[in-house]
Amino acid sequence: MGNLPKNFDFIVLGSGIAGLTFALKVAHAGKVAIITKKSRTESNTNYAQGGIAAVTSKNDSFESHVQDTVIAGSGLCKEEIVRSIVEEGPDRVEELINLGMKFSQRETENGDCELDLGKEGGHSNRRILHAKDVTGREIERALLNSIASNENICVFENHFAIDLITTQKLGLPNINRCVGVYVLNNETNLVETYSAKTVVLATGGCGKVYLYTSNPDIATGDGTAMSYRAGATISNMEFIQFHPTCLYHPKAKSFLISEAVRGEGAELLNLSGQRFMEKIHPLKSLAPRDIVARAIDSEMKRTGDDHVLLDITNKPARYIIDRFPNIYQTCLNFGLDITKEPIPVVPAAHYQCGGVQVSPNGETCINGLYAIGEVSCTGLHGANRLASNSLLEALVYAHRAANHSLNNPTLAIDADLPDWHSGDAIDADEMVVVSHNWDELRRTMWDYVGIVRTTKRLKRALTRVKNLQEEISDYYWDFTVTSDLLELRNLATVAELIVKSALQREESRGLHYTLDHPKTAENYAEKDTLIRLQ
Ligand code: SIN
Repeated sequence: MGNLPKNFDFIVLGSGIAGLTFALKVAHAGKVAIITKKSRTESNTNYAQGGIAAVTSKNDSFESHVQDTVIAGSGLCKEEIVRSIVEEGPDRVEELINLGMKFSQRETENGDCELDLGKEGGHSNRRILHAKDVTGREIERALLNSIASNENICVFENHFAIDLITTQKLGLPNINRCVGVYVLNNETNLVETYSAKTVVLATGGCGKVYLYTSNPDIATGDGTAMSYRAGATISNMEFIQFHPTCLYHPKAKSFLISEAVRGEGAELLNLSGQRFMEKIHPLKSLAPRDIVARAIDSEMKRTGDDHVLLDITNKPARYIIDRFPNIYQTCLNFGLDITKEPIPVVPAAHYQCGGVQVSPNGETCINGLYAIGEVSCTGLHGANRLASNSLLEALVYAHRAANHSLNNPTLAIDADLPDWHSGDAIDADEMVVVSHNWDELRRTMWDYVGIVRTTKRLKRALTRVKNLQEEISDYYWDFTVTSDLLELRNLATVAELIVKSALQREESRGLHYTLDHPKTAENYAEKDTLIRLQ
């Protein structure tokens, strides 16, 4: 006797800014399930330090924000998409403020208060709305507060979405449509069936596919992998953004030193104290991220050092502590006083610029399935995301997807959803296989598919990823599923997508830099890399 499916009007996978905003916007029209694999606060959003890029100052303009985005994106941004997101930004930010989000304020010369706008790499104006250096945490607080008082929204924590249920998989005729999700309930270890007319992927990115990342442990590319298996089109996965400055300390796991620190005057130095960015780019330490990350990589290779330094000691201690309280305190906990000494930093995987290809309303090519936030590829980021544009994109696309799904309701399907079939699977007795493969995959990606690539290394990586996938697949079918195994399977799929996309792009552009094709090809402009399961 199977478990009865849990029926909802909307299923949202993920509890970051995109998923929570979508849920709040549709809850008046039906029952919403938010499914999240850990606790509700554990999302990439929660760790965002920088902020939301939006034009809110009279000294700024939409045109300037559009141009900064397009320049960072290295010829691959969809300009009409960029413009529409930038122009919609201020309204979405205002909604967030009305929900209770508290951005940092500053006092003007006349004693009034106004939003304190930060600066980050590639921006020609101050336009980053932030809550000191814990913007994501404050966003999550405000959104979760609103969710808590909404009776139509149920949050399922410690529930891991395994696979999308589609009409194609069910063998039903006509167009492919998403009708539900199989979910591992980590409290009971049972796989449950959830059904809904609208399913929204808001699962974030895949930083954990690399050995070193600024991302939290949850960033395992689940939504990208799941939708690829279900038949969605995946776009531009070669463009993985490496953040130039993560704390280099043996005990610091994934701790970011926000680009806002450079925005407020910090400089990059090599271990001999030289400012190596001066000869690389007119914006020096505040050049676009791809350029800074590559320059650090090359400086580390040139000197043989395993990190560089970021120095903010030119600013008064009181200012540093007030503007960057989280970074100051975290570094101090590691024995480093950033008001007195430079910060050791290294680049680390940070953001997935590609993802599930979506329409301007966040629709994927699978009916009833939307993708919003980092998991999606809208055309905003092109070949390199401009700092702090992602939270803006998440807000705008959550709004659009909500409106679109409300205005275009899909009909219920005339079939029962089958239970998850675990066959003869038994409990796994060799979890070491999972942890070994997990390490090997992440090291392979770091060594062969990092900041500087070659065709030979990419091909080597593909062979290793395929071997690992075979082992993972055997394991998957033989044993009952666990979160660790599911994450490993998703990471391996995402690794395959990144490597295959990188091999397809025979040029260097934005975040994809290969020694075999070091130039940006003219005829590749505006050409997305597309992959779809045959
Ligand atoms: C940062 O604070 O440097 C991260 C901001 C971003 O990735 O947009």
